[in-house]
Amino acid sequence: MAEGSIPQFASGPRFTDRVALVTGAGSGLGRATAVRLAAEGAIVAALDIADAAAEQTATDIVAAGGHARAYRVDVSDPESVAESVDLAAEDLGRPVLLVNSAGVGGFSRTEEQSYEGWQRIIGVNLTGTFLMCKAVIPYLLDGGGVIVNIGSNAGIMGQPYSAAYSASKGGVIQLTRALQDEYLRKKIRIVCVAPGSMDTPLQSQFTFPEGVNPKAFAKVMSPIGSNPPENVAGVVAFVASDEGNYMHGAVVSVDGGLTI
Ligand SMILES: NC(=O)c1ccc[n+]([C@@H]2O[C@H](COP(=O)([O-])OP(=O)(O)OC[C@H]3O[C@@H](n4cnc5c(N)ncnc54)[C@H](O)[C@@H]3O)[C@@H](O)[C@H]2O)c1
Repeated sequence: MAEGSIPQFASGPRFTDRVALVTGAGSGLGRATAVRLAAEGAIVAALDIADAAAEQTATDIVAAGGHARAYRVDVSDPESVAESVDLAAEDLGRPVLLVNSAGVGGFSRTEEQSYEGWQRIIGVNLTGTFLMCKAVIPYLLDGGGVIVNIGSNAGIMGQPYSAAYSASKGGVIQLTRALQDEYLRKKIRIVCVAPGSMDTPLQSQFTFPEGVNPKAFAKVMSPIGSNPPENVAGVVAFVASDEGNYMHGAVVSVDGGLTI
């Protein structure tokens, strides 16, 4: 480039004809990500245990002129994961992008947290992310690709009354790093996007345990408020795009300053 000339940047859709699998695509961040990727040309597999919600996302994308198809998956069930991933690949082509957004949570005193409740949160958030990665990696090994795991500020900082959720999201961060180390030379990028508070159905379902002083939660609420999921979807799209090409094993906080 000649000295003093203006650099030219690529513009336009960044995912044209790329097959992207998005879990939790029926709601919140997963839905916003599916819509964003499709708007930038991706062929989207909208995966969710809530099949009607996943169908709605796919229908809305197609109505807007995009490409999408819905699949039911329970990310905590190895058979369901393997079946739906293979089916989506058969229908849509080789996946080159996986976004793991399916998640569950809730606040509880640890001495009152049931074993089943603990297993459910770990099973969906951590084991589910592992199972989806395991099922999609063979496709990514055949020419490269990207995985974006959705973490949380709760996986970085101490968050009260959410031991299972915090442990699951801390696990997602270390899973991201371990996988990246393993696949660094195999053309697979793996990044964790760690949101703070987002306005989604997940958050509106949370209730504080009875009798707990709400001030205990001040540290997990950004003083500048919460973020629309569409903004976080924009960050997911950036790290998943070729512009994120040198991001490997990174943990990208989008949390209104919670983890400064
Ligand atoms: N909302 C927040 O404040 C916030 C903050 C930090 C991180 N996160 C993370 O962002 C991600 C998306 O959360 P959200 O706020 O969009 O929640 P959401 O409840 O709006 O969406 C989660 C989706 O996951 C699906 N799901 C749940 N269990 C599943 C399973 N077993 N198999 C497949 N799909 C399943 C649900 O049906 C739902 O459609 C989650 O991983 C969550 O932990 C959310």
